[in-house]
Amino acid sequence: MVSVGSVRRALSIFRPVGIASGLLLACTSGSGDETSATDSSSSATDSTATGTTNATETATETATETGGEAARPNWYQDIAPLVTRSCVGCHVAGGIGPFAMESYEQTWPWATVIADNTDVGLMPPWHALSTEVCEPPSGFKHDPRLTDAEKAMLRDWADLGAPEGDPELAAPLPEPQSLDLPNSTKTALMASKLTVEAKGSTLDFFNCLSIDPGISETVFLDGLQLVVGNRAILHHVLIYVDSTAESADWPGGVKLDCGGGTGINGPAELISGWVPGSLPMQAPDGVKIPIEAGSRLILNVHYHATGGGTEVDDSTGLAFRWSDTPPEYTSIFKLLGEPGESERLTGPLMIPAGATNHVEEFEWVVSDGGQPFPDTVDARLWSVAHHMHKIGIDMRVSVIDRDSGEETCLLHTPKWDFDWQRFYEYDTPIGEAVRLKSGDKIRLKCIYDNSLGNPAAVEALAEVGLDAPVDVVAGEGTLDEMCIGAFGIALKGL
Ligand code: HEC
Repeated sequence: MVSVGSVRRALSIFRPVGIASGLLLACTSGSGDETSATDSSSSATDSTATGTTNATETATETATETGGEAARPNWYQDIAPLVTRSCVGCHVAGGIGPFAMESYEQTWPWATVIADNTDVGLMPPWHALSTEVCEPPSGFKHDPRLTDAEKAMLRDWADLGAPEGDPELAAPLPEPQSLDLPNSTKTALMASKLTVEAKGSTLDFFNCLSIDPGISETVFLDGLQLVVGNRAILHHVLIYVDSTAESADWPGGVKLDCGGGTGINGPAELISGWVPGSLPMQAPDGVKIPIEAGSRLILNVHYHATGGGTEVDDSTGLAFRWSDTPPEYTSIFKLLGEPGESERLTGPLMIPAGATNHVEEFEWVVSDGGQPFPDTVDARLWSVAHHMHKIGIDMRVSVIDRDSGEETCLLHTPKWDFDWQRFYEYDTPIGEAVRLKSGDKIRLKCIYDNSLGNPAAVEALAEVGLDAPVDVVAGEGTLDEMCIGAFGIALKGL
């Protein structure tokens, strides 16, 4: 069995080899059409010896039965509906996925790689996992993960040699999911344009944008969508409320190179995050987020240069849905950890060079600005996010009940990936969501790998021209670290 690791390594180092291996696979099984089989031999010839060995192994092991017209699963009856629903949102021509899955011709060469990636949960991307140490209190909204039966179907399809099936029998395809916020009230875009291009080997840039929603009286927000400007370079975005409008002073509404932070000194509330494919934030029924008059929003945007010359972004922004009616529950967002309000259970954040399993822990006693609050206040957790940089590898947050001492794990991201940060929203009515009582404790545990065994650390070091680990401390730069839990807490009766 070719391990997923070796397939991924081969693919990332010699991408054409990966494509060639897929084509060879189908070539051997005889289910590809003439044209693409011919194309494949030319790209296979370009590949290195290592790549070809891999490709041959893959082909041999999967070339069992050739799928006849009626073989199941096949593309038209089984696979197309599944990938249209779960993959095509990103794997579309011009999308962020590295190949498109809109047709049989585009997809079959990847059958084995698809089965390998979906088997181990790498695709579709989703990082809130149930683990031995964490069983979150409920499922999350917009969870794109495949069922075991769906994964098995993709594996069977690959094993059969990716049969096409009969277009006459094609199953109807689901409508692609809309990523737009229904009934938005207002859209506000970036105030000036930005250009992004590679500087030497540096492709990643973190710029903050100040968005003016033009709010003259407090509004109550229940929906928020990132409006994507230039899709080719927009990598991920963190969304903050700047209630003192400090960012209004930025020339052109932009602060370049603001690292992993907000670019302002004053307080900012992290309220949402965007990664490609993510759906708009929509608070549960009965919950709204008050935004004070005059507030701005800050987008911390990770731009990734294409390497193919200058790209411009002039239209990234936000769509809002708000009203002026106060809701049953108002939501606040709380940032805990480093930097954030909480007590350090470990020393000041410092991850020694070379440390592979370094732990930092923080705790916060649930209170109202340091004061206890009565049990008549109903506080419910509806949304939660993790934030670390590239040395981080695993993060967990939990709540410990003040009376029973029982610990409930809220979110575990054991395969932390800086590139796929998002808010996770519990899929439950607000009255049934996890309750936070005055005196409960929220605990955060961040684990780091500051060695060359951590590919993200190698990447972060390379960005600043280093090839050996250095001590890492708290801060906003690429090579600094954080350990933040962001919590959307809905309050009634306060
Ligand atoms: C949210 C966007 C998104 C969705 C949804 C998504 N992918 Fe991906 N996919 C990506 C990106 C981006 C990459 C590039 C690697 C990375 O960033 O992890 C990728 C990589 C892959 C790869 C690895 C290619 C290689 O060269 O190693 C495979 C296979 C894959 N996706 C299959 C799927 C399948 C199958 C689905 C649906 C079940 C899916 N993806 C859903 C964004 C997505």
